[in-house]
Amino acid sequence: MNVSIRRLIVAAGLCLSLAAPLAVAPSGLAADETVSEADRKAGQKAYKRFCSHCHGLDLKNPGTASFDLRKWPSGQHDQFVDTVSNGKGDMPAWGDILRPEEIEVIYAYIISHPDRKK
Ligand code: HEC
Repeated sequence: MNVSIRRLIVAAGLCLSLAAPLAVAPSGLAADETVSEADRKAGQKAYKRFCSHCHGLDLKNPGTASFDLRKWPSGQHDQFVDTVSNGKGDMPAWGDILRPEEIEVIYAYIISHPDRKK
């Protein structure tokens, strides 16, 4: 095989292996769950519209039967996306209503909320 072609293949493989970790990280969210202001704001808006009537305005849970989202534990991103997409008990499923990016920004809003009790 021609040496320059072999170099090209090695370089392409390297690029793929470097790009892979980025592809699996949730959009706009770093591994340490640092949240950008843009995501937080977009999430706040979507939360207000789709979640607040059961979970409380500004995450202040009205003390009804719904889960207090201020107590959502850190590092449980996948569990969050799963419950929100598929529903749980009396919690409706949002997978057909919200786009994955919308669920991501709602998650960002919740985990960066100042009233959060981790
Ligand atoms: C119709 C009322 C209602 C709405 C609207 C609603 N939820 Fe819920 N949610 C609930 C109830 C009730 C529970 C408790 C479910 C249970 O544990 O049986 C819950 C639980 C949850 C939980 C915890 C699930 C777990 O794994 O224990 C999360 C996270 C959650 N909701 C997120 C959201 C988000 C995000 C939205 C907006 C997209 C939303 N909810 C909208 C009623 C609602």
